[in-house]
Amino acid sequence: MTFNLSLPHSPACERNQDPIKEVLEKELGPQQNLLEVGFGTAQHAFYFSRFFPQVTYFAGDREQAHINFLQRSQVLGAPDNLKGPYQITATDETVLHNLDIKSFDTIYTANTLHIMSWKESLSFLKFGGDHLKSGGKLLIYGPFVFEGKFTSESNKSFDESLRLSDPRMGIRSFEEIEEVLQRKGLSLIRKYDLPANNQMLVFQKEES
Ligand SMILES: C[S@@+](CC[C@H](N)C(=O)[O-])C[C@H]1O[C@@H](n2cnc3c(N)ncnc32)[C@H](O)[C@@H]1O
Repeated sequence: MTFNLSLPHSPACERNQDPIKEVLEKELGPQQNLLEVGFGTAQHAFYFSRFFPQVTYFAGDREQAHINFLQRSQVLGAPDNLKGPYQITATDETVLHNLDIKSFDTIYTANTLHIMSWKESLSFLKFGGDHLKSGGKLLIYGPFVFEGKFTSESNKSFDESLRLSDPRMGIRSFEEIEEVLQRKGLSLIRKYDLPANNQMLVFQKEES
């Protein structure tokens, strides 16, 4: 069992995986495909793909995270419906060149928008709009600012520490995200308040 200790581990992922899973239970349809952007330690990818065997789960990240994924596969074995790791930078139009599938029922991302610069976030939101099927959903989990206000003092401090380490990072404004996505034909259909002052925003692409 000491083997498992070497796996990349995020305590936050362990805490939020069940609240997020409950949202996915409500939002995911039967027999569909999902792309996770920015899988990090790959904890969510392994956990959710096991829990939702009807979902073909594509795990994408841009760099080091691949090694995390492969390590997890070696120790735990990847379920058949978990595909990856795919090197994607969801801000680059060539991102999906190594995937056969170019459009998804669901695109899910957790704790990535405050890591990306705002310019990268804009590209990611455009990416989401472009690579979702008609009626598909974009699920964005993390902390957000609403009407210019942090939802907690801890999020305010977190934002300060992010900006101190890199001024391009920072907690994003919900209204700005919504405005960008509305222009891409996506509307907010639900917002879940989850533990630790995080939210899951659920946008849906209009049916064409
Ligand atoms: C803070 S970690 C979050 C990881 C995981 N989703 C979680 O909740 O713990 C951010 C992840 O997003 C990835 N990332 C950041 N910008 C990206 C981009 N433009 N395209 C793909 N992945 C990106 C990073 O490599 C990193 O693995």
